[in-house]
Amino acid sequence: MAVHPEPKPSVVVSHLDIVYEVFGAKRGRAVAAGEEEGGLGMVERLLGQREEKFGHVQKVHAVKDVSFVANVGESIGIIGRNGSGKSTLLRAIAGLIPPTSGSVWLSGEPSLLGVNAVLLGDLTGERNIMIGGQALGLSAKEIRSRFNDIVEFSGIGDFVYMPMKAYSSGMGARLRFAISTAKTPDILMVDEALATGDADFKARSSERITQIRKDAGTVFLVSHSNNTVKEMCTRALWMEKGRLIADGPAEEVVTAYQKTFPQKKKPSSKQTSATDS
Ligand SMILES: Nc1ncnc2c1ncn2[C@@H]1O[C@H](COP(=O)(O)OP(=O)(O)OP(=O)(O)O)[C@@H](O)[C@H]1O
Ligand SMILES: [Mg+2]
Repeated sequence: MAVHPEPKPSVVVSHLDIVYEVFGAKRGRAVAAGEEEGGLGMVERLLGQREEKFGHVQKVHAVKDVSFVANVGESIGIIGRNGSGKSTLLRAIAGLIPPTSGSVWLSGEPSLLGVNAVLLGDLTGERNIMIGGQALGLSAKEIRSRFNDIVEFSGIGDFVYMPMKAYSSGMGARLRFAISTAKTPDILMVDEALATGDADFKARSSERITQIRKDAGTVFLVSHSNNTVKEMCTRALWMEKGRLIADGPAEEVVTAYQKTFPQKKKPSSKQTSATDS
């Protein structure tokens, strides 16, 4: 592990709250995640902890009073169940969602790489590399010089000349990761994108994440794969219903999470899964 005697903060999140306002929600019917939890969900709603209804505008309190400091050289996994606020937290750090209250401070340029990152399905991988590279601040010449590396890293071969809508989700995710890391970002944020990769791609992305940390970057990784977080992260944040309930060494936090929410073994399935096998 890289040793940084004096931690150098790269991200400071202070008392962050994010409340979404959903227009057009049907009155009297809850839409927030966790609905399947039955009785508990209802109690929380009655206590006003989950959502408040104002006419047809429904509020979803997705991130609640979250504070932490991330340092240069750390790779931080964000774990938690569906709807716990992981993606919202990441998008807020990336500056894509303004804080409802509290603040986010960054010392560098963030690069968010998510399942919904803006790659255009109608365009070829090649065009998306050009556009994505420019969005990262690379010149056309720089992108051309890195083009082969990007394609090689993504492992999509000649598919790069096909429209992206013809890609499998794994191929799309791999190309996204390759583009987003073509220029070493100060703060790399990855939301689930590695989940669809095969073992070989995971090994390559793990190497690249380590490289980014060594090059004085900070990496955030949202993942439902406990093993991926254990293997790739130095630290983990555990989100539960919008709150940060644990923050510490990845191994410890993930182990505590696994004890609380053991993952059921799936009967043998050929499908690539976002969860651990
Ligand atoms: N654009 C949005 N508008 C309104 N509510 C939203 C929006 N995005 C997320 N939410 C709500 O905010 C809460 C947190 O969602 P978020 O996507 O951050 O969770 P998550 O931890 O990333 O979940 P998952 O593991 O399923 O990806 C959920 O209750 C969700 O329904
Ligand atoms: Mg998410």
